Amino acid sequence: DDIVTRMKNVDMIELGRHRIKPWYFSPYPQELTSEPIVYICEFCLKYVKSHKCLERHLSKCVFRHPPGNEIYRKGNISFFEIDGRKNKNYAQNLCLLAKLFLDHKTLYYDTDPFLFYIMCELDTIGYHIIGYFSKEKESSEDYNVACILTLPPYQKKGYGKVLIQFSYELSKFEGKTGSPEKPLSDLGLLSYRSYWSQTILDILISLKPTVSGEQPCMTINEISEMTSIKKEDVISTLQHLNLINYYKGQYIIQLTRDALDSHSKAMAKKKIKIDPKCLHWQPKD
Ligand code: COA
Ligand code: NA
Repeated sequence: DDIVTRMKNVDMIELGRHRIKPWYFSPYPQELTSEPIVYICEFCLKYVKSHKCLERHLSKCVFRHPPGNEIYRKGNISFFEIDGRKNKNYAQNLCLLAKLFLDHKTLYYDTDPFLFYIMCELDTIGYHIIGYFSKEKESSEDYNVACILTLPPYQKKGYGKVLIQFSYELSKFEGKTGSPEKPLSDLGLLSYRSYWSQTILDILISLKPTVSGEQPCMTINEISEMTSIKKEDVISTLQHLNLINYYKGQYIIQLTRDALDSHSKAMAKKKIKIDPKCLHWQPKD
């Protein structure tokens, strides 16, 4: 029944060299969830019920990276694009894995309408999955992300914001603005707020005063166009940072010492960034 099926059902997963404790329920078959550990192939994401079965699988599995096209690589970071219709098996396995860490999102058994962008770390063994986001092929609401996940062993190292940046780079290529699907989790909102704030402040700070010494100005629309961040999210971020006032029917953006200080602190610890030059991708129509 509904209550039982929603109880956390997997005690532990093994994925590559990681043992990970799940956060939430995910509908893995019951023959597996009654075992202490669900073993998952880190390359094709197939799940089996014992270490022996995994070994047997690994001796046959030809994958050392996700299926689909590698559309980005810089250093040891790569992105693969997977079509939920063409690689249904992988996409469904990915959704099952992701559901272990997602509370409120519905699980999509029907993966056809989605593209999946898998971020991997490359070493001599293969491409190890760090996280991913999914995206509707066609969104009537301008969503550019459906689900987003950094696997727990990689969390809080900046990878979430790398995934977010990647999603906006795709939107820039498409010449569109986008926004993540709602509702966002608490951690999702924290990560988006942080990405939006840093991206918008980067732009505002880089504006030089005009020759006549006047404060340069920039509109919400211009910020939105430059970043592909949807207008509503630009406004809510500026409001959150206390940088916006509504005056005589117009938004006035004003930088503050506080915002500048916290921005330079954030910049000092910034790690990996997506380099748009390394993206080899064409939007499909
Ligand atoms: N506690 C406090 N702050 C946290 C945090 C935590 N557990 N996890 C992330 N943050 C903050 C970071 O401090 C960072 O802000 P800062 O750069 O301004 O300091 C920001 O969130 C992003 O951190 P980052 O390391 O880039 O993100 P991440 O790799 O940990 O991934 C999620 C963020 C949301 C993708 C990850 O938490 C996750 O996969 N959660 C489960 C799935 C989910 O909820 N997805 C979103 C809804 S679809
Ligand atoms: Na991280």
